[in-house]
Amino acid sequence: MKVSASLSNSSENPASVLTKVTVLGATGSIGLNTLDIIRQFPQKFQIEALSCRNSIEQLCEQIREFKPRLVCVNTSDQARELRESFRSGHSCPETEFVWGMEGLKQISRDPEVDLVMAAIVGAAGLEPTFSAVEAGKIVAVANKEPLVMAGELFVQTAKKTGAKLLPTDSEHNAIFQALHNESPERIARLILTASGGPFRDLPLDEFEQITLDEALNHPNWEMGRKITIDSATMMNKGLEIIEAHWLFNTPVEKIDVLMQRESIIHSMVEFIDGSFLAQMGLPDMRVPIAYCLGWPERLPLKIPRLDPVALNALHFEAIDEQRFPCLSLSLKAAKQGGGAPAVLNGANEKVVAAFLNEEIRFVDISKILASVMHVFDETLQQTKPDCFDIIPDFLLNILSLEDAVEADQWGREQAGEVLENLN
Ligand SMILES: NC(=O)c1ccc[n+]([C@@H]2O[C@H](COP(=O)([O-])OP(=O)(O)OC[C@H]3O[C@@H](n4cnc5c(N)ncnc54)[C@H](OP(=O)(O)O)[C@@H]3O)[C@@H](O)[C@H]2O)c1
Repeated sequence: MKVSASLSNSSENPASVLTKVTVLGATGSIGLNTLDIIRQFPQKFQIEALSCRNSIEQLCEQIREFKPRLVCVNTSDQARELRESFRSGHSCPETEFVWGMEGLKQISRDPEVDLVMAAIVGAAGLEPTFSAVEAGKIVAVANKEPLVMAGELFVQTAKKTGAKLLPTDSEHNAIFQALHNESPERIARLILTASGGPFRDLPLDEFEQITLDEALNHPNWEMGRKITIDSATMMNKGLEIIEAHWLFNTPVEKIDVLMQRESIIHSMVEFIDGSFLAQMGLPDMRVPIAYCLGWPERLPLKIPRLDPVALNALHFEAIDEQRFPCLSLSLKAAKQGGGAPAVLNGANEKVVAAFLNEEIRFVDISKILASVMHVFDETLQQTKPDCFDIIPDFLLNILSLEDAVEADQWGREQAGEVLENLN
C-alpha cells in the first residue's frame, strides 16, 4: 500500500502512516459515511481533497473540519466565491478550489493522494474514477455505474498502472472478503443478496399506484435517491451483476441473485468443493467503507454490532423476475456485453431522474427501459425501420472512455424519445 511517510497527526501510534484520501462526492450518503470513519481515525487518515456538485453549505462545514488542500465544485463561479470567502474568513487560506470535470480529474490523480473514494453517483463519476485508476491509486469503488459502462477498461488499466480496485458496494465487499485471494477457477458461483426493496411483498396489481415516497422508503438501507429507486426496481442488483463480473473476473452465468430479507448476509461465494463463505453484519455501509479505507488491515470500528442470538432467523428466497423486470433487462444486457450495459445505464439514469421529478410512474421505468433495449437490439440486427447501414462502434464494443460515454448518451437519447412520446 502506498502511503505517505508523514507522521504529523500520529499522536497515538508513532509507527502508523497517514493515508491521504480524496473523497469524490463527499456530501452524499457514501461520502458522509466515509468522512465519519475518517473522523474516528485521525492518526490514520488525512483528507487531501473533497468534491461535491451543489451541496455547498455542507461542503463548507467539511472544509472547516478537515482542511483539505484541494476542493472541487461544479462551476468556476462557485470555486471563486468559496476561494474569496475562505480567504477573507482566514480559515483554510491554503485550500485550492478547482471546478468541473477537469477539477474532479485533478483531485483524483493528484500525486500526494494515496486513496480515492469514488462516491459520485452515476456516469458523472466515470472520468474522475478512471483518472484515479490511470494514476495507479487505491480506488475504493462505491460508484458502480462507471464499472458497468466500461468495466473491462477499468480492469485492464488497473493491471497496467498497479491501481487497486477495492469493492465498496456491500455485496462486492462481502465477496471480496469471502474470496480472500482464492483464484477464479475455484469459484462455483457468486451469490449477490438482495433485500427485495420496499415492494418485495406488494401485490402485483398495486404496482400501478406506487408513489415516489413509497419507492424512496427502503426497508433496510439509507442511501442516495438514485440508488434507492434502483433498489426498488432491482436495477441496482442488475448493475451489481455487471460490476461483480468485472471485479471478480467471473462469467455472468456464474453470478446469481438471492433475496435475503434481513440484509444481514451481504453476499456469498460458493466454491467448487461445495463450501459456501458469506460475510455477515448489520446493514451499515461504514463496514465495507472502513474495510476499503483500512485495507489490508481491519479498523476497530465503534458501531452497533450484530447480535446473532437476537437474530432469530435468516430468510432466503428466489427472486420473482415478474415483479422486477429491470433485473431481467440488466441480466440480458450483462450477457450481451459490448455497449449494452452502458446503453442501459444511460437510459436508466435518464428514466430514474424523470421518476424522481414525478414526470412518470414507477411502472413506466421498466417499460421505457424495455423499449430502449428493444431499439438497441433492432439497431444491432439492422431491423429498425429508419436504421442506417453502419452500426456505431460504441454499441458493439467499449474500447475507450469515449465509447462508454457515447453508448451511455445513446441510451439517454433513446429514453428521452420514449419519454417525449409519453407526454
Ligand atoms: N448510498 C449507499 O449506501 C450506496 C451503497 C452502495 C453503492 N453506492 C453507490 O455509490 C454511489 C454514490 O451513492 P450515494 O447514495 O452516496 O449518492 P448520493 O447520496 O446521491 O451522493 C452523490 C454524491 O455525488 C455528488 N454528485 C452528484 N452528481 C454529480 C455530478 N454530476 N458531478 C459531480 N458530483 C456529483 C453529490 O454532490 P451534491 O451533494 O452536491 O449533489 C454527492 O456528493 C452510487 O454510484 C451508488 O450506486 C451507494
